[in-house]
Amino acid sequence: MKISIGCDHIVTEIKDYLVEYLKEKGYEVIDNGTYDKIRTHYPIYGKKTAEKVVNGEADLGIVICGTGVGITTSANKVKGIRAALVRDVTTAKYAKEQLNANVIGMGGRITGIGLMENIIDVFLETEYKETEENKKWIEKIDGVIEEDPSIGDEHFFDEFLEKWEKGEYPNE
Ligand code: RB5
Repeated sequence: MKISIGCDHIVTEIKDYLVEYLKEKGYEVIDNGTYDKIRTHYPIYGKKTAEKVVNGEADLGIVICGTGVGITTSANKVKGIRAALVRDVTTAKYAKEQLNANVIGMGGRITGIGLMENIIDVFLETEYKETEENKKWIEKIDGVIEEDPSIGDEHFFDEFLEKWEKGEYPNE
């Protein structure tokens, strides 16, 4: 199984740790960055990580930022993504079993590393339980975004990146 993972600069070392954790468990990993502590912004990595899942390069995705809120919301805006912000094992199980979530998000400043490992294990190992009801609701959820012209657009965030390069954002 191949996992797409991404984070912002607040939690890079946590993402790096989880990449190794996943590899040791035998998963293939696509690390979408960020790769250092230089200030960036979570939508870039939420989108990159999610796109690898919808285009079939990866089976599932994991996104992490400080709270998990920003990057999970960003991932969810990619058509075909069902991203769940998860802080406990029960939610991780539900997200996969009932919603067939294909991305989970976590907050590196909220959830401890041991619990993150447990959440990831449960998310990756739980099977989706397809029922007529689940299928119907997932189709409805997926149908809300009709098309996403930003998929694969490498320049989608250029305006913001240029501003950061000019120092127009605070450094945190
Ligand atoms: C830093 O940009 C911080 O806002 C981010 O990591 C996250 O906590 C947002 O949800």
